[in-house]
Amino acid sequence: MTDDDLTRAADWLRAADRVCVLTGAGVSAESGVPTFRASDGLWEGHRIEDVASPDGFERDPKLVWQFYNARRANARTVEPNPGHLALVALERRWGERFTLVTQNVDGLHRTAGSTNVLEIHGSLHRTRCLGCNRVTDRNIQEDLGDEPACPKCYGQLRPDIVWFGEALPESVWLPSLNAAYGCNVLLVVGTSAVVHPAASLVPIAKRKQPAARVIEVNLTRTEASQMADVGLYGPSGVVLPKLVERLG
Ligand code: OAD
Repeated sequence: MTDDDLTRAADWLRAADRVCVLTGAGVSAESGVPTFRASDGLWEGHRIEDVASPDGFERDPKLVWQFYNARRANARTVEPNPGHLALVALERRWGERFTLVTQNVDGLHRTAGSTNVLEIHGSLHRTRCLGCNRVTDRNIQEDLGDEPACPKCYGQLRPDIVWFGEALPESVWLPSLNAAYGCNVLLVVGTSAVVHPAASLVPIAKRKQPAARVIEVNLTRTEASQMADVGLYGPSGVVLPKLVERLG
C-alpha cells in the first residue's frame, strides 16, 4: 500500500455522500476466526458440501450441529479487532448514509458497535425452526447440543445461516442492493469475492452513472481487484485504522 493510494482512497471517502462496505472473513482473521478458503478446500477438516448445504444437513444433522457448535465456541473466545472498530468510526461519521454489508456470521461487527449491519449470510447467534420457521437469537454462550429442538413446537432447529444453494433472505439482500447501487464509495474488505450473489455488489456499485469508487482492502488481489479503483493491500486491522486517520 503506497501513501498515495491511501490519500486517494481517503479523498474519495471524504467527498462521498453515501458509503457502503462489503466485508468477508478476512476482516475477522486478526481476531482469530479462520477464513474459509484454505488451500486444501476444507473447512476445519470438513468438505463444504457436508457442513454447509441443505443436503448435508439432511444427511447428517448431528455433524452439522457439531461443526456449528464448534464455530459458536470459537466465536465466544474472539473479540473485534481494530479493523472492526475502524468501521464503527466510519458509521459514526456517515450515520444512516453508511451501510455495512457482511458475509460474516460471527457477529463481531455488532459486538464492535456497528449498528447498520446487514448480515447477508445469516448469523451463528440465531437458530431457525424447520417446523414453525421461528428465528431465535440464542446468542453464542451455550452449546446447543447436536440435536437441538424448537422450544415452541419441538421441530428440528438449524443454524440461521445461508448455505450453498440457498437464496439470500430478501430482508437483507434488497437493502444491500440498494446500498451498493446508491453509494459513492464501496469499500470491499477481506473477501475473496468469489461467492455470489454477495460479490455481485461490486459490479452493481460500478454499473450506475457516475460509478462508485471501489476501494479494496485485502492481503492480496482478488476477483474484485479488476473493478477496484485502488487497492490497499495489507491486513485490514492495520489498513482500515490508517484510512480513518487519513480521513481526518
Ligand atoms: P474467503 O475465505 O473466501 O476469503 C477471505 C479473504 O480475506 C481472502 O481474500 C484473504 O486474502 C483475505 N484476508 C485474510 N486475512 C486478511 C486480513 N488480515 N486482512 C485483510 N484481508 C484478509 O472468505 P469470504 O470471501 O468471506 O459463506 O467467503 C465468502 C463466503 O464463502 C462466506 O461468507 C461463506 C463461504 O461460503 C457462507 O457461509 C454462506
